[in-house]
Amino acid sequence: MAYDPDEHYKRLAETYDGNWADRPQYVSWMADRIMSWLEPSPGDRIADIGSGTGLFLSRLMDIASPEAPILCVDPSQPMLDLLPEDPRLTPLCATAEQIASGEVSMPVPAVDAFVFKEAIHHVKDIPGTLSGLADRLNPGGRILIVSLPPRLRYPLFEAALDRFAEGQPEEDDLVKAMRDTGLKTDHTIEEFTVTIDRDHWLKLVRNQWMSVLSTFSQEEITAGVEEIRNRYPESPISYPDRFVFVRGIKE
Ligand SMILES: C[S@@+](CC[C@H](N)C(=O)[O-])C[C@H]1O[C@@H](n2cnc3c(N)ncnc32)[C@H](O)[C@@H]1O
Repeated sequence: MAYDPDEHYKRLAETYDGNWADRPQYVSWMADRIMSWLEPSPGDRIADIGSGTGLFLSRLMDIASPEAPILCVDPSQPMLDLLPEDPRLTPLCATAEQIASGEVSMPVPAVDAFVFKEAIHHVKDIPGTLSGLADRLNPGGRILIVSLPPRLRYPLFEAALDRFAEGQPEEDDLVKAMRDTGLKTDHTIEEFTVTIDRDHWLKLVRNQWMSVLSTFSQEEITAGVEEIRNRYPESPISYPDRFVFVRGIKE
């Protein structure tokens, strides 16, 4: 089945935030980690690229204001429609590539930070896009990428883990692309242990909550759920959620 990200997020938008509803610790952990990697100051102009519903923006919103709102960039209007109505958020329906190339203008010519939280894998030309975005940074500005590594340790069925790995950029490639922009680059892996009710997890898989699951037919999903059920007989299920953090700073 052909995978169409627009269709995937259109279908998923309504249930997206609910996927994490029973894992508030994870959401606040991630929001904290993003904050501490970005070290933003009040008044900084921040653009969240692939912002989706803005689920992880709570901490950044504390330092945003109606005068310096967070620019939430996403090509999926259904996801943007679910952003909280708040004068500290400005939605912009566009891709990372359109911002990087200047095809779509931002309300300000340059920003202090671009954040990509689990969105860089949707970008086709990562080096070219990062380079275009680096040109749109103020001095001292940062680009932060938060991305899942190709090999997940999620309790998924084997075919999904393999297909996910095929579509996900490697940490080394992200680091190289960031370095090649001329930004001072550092990186690490951060880990959070997820503990989730087994039935809830199976429901998420059935609902094809990750983009990669949308590439499987209903029959394949049903077989995959059975595979998970057999492999993980106990509830709750615990697994390490690992994230690559790559940061570039314009000196
Ligand atoms: C996994 S979601 C992450 C949303 C949000 N950052 C979060 O962590 O909750 C990926 C988002 O990237 C968006 N996206 C897809 N293609 C994109 C592109 N070329 N440029 C920017 N965002 C894109 C999708 O519409 C979706 O909202």
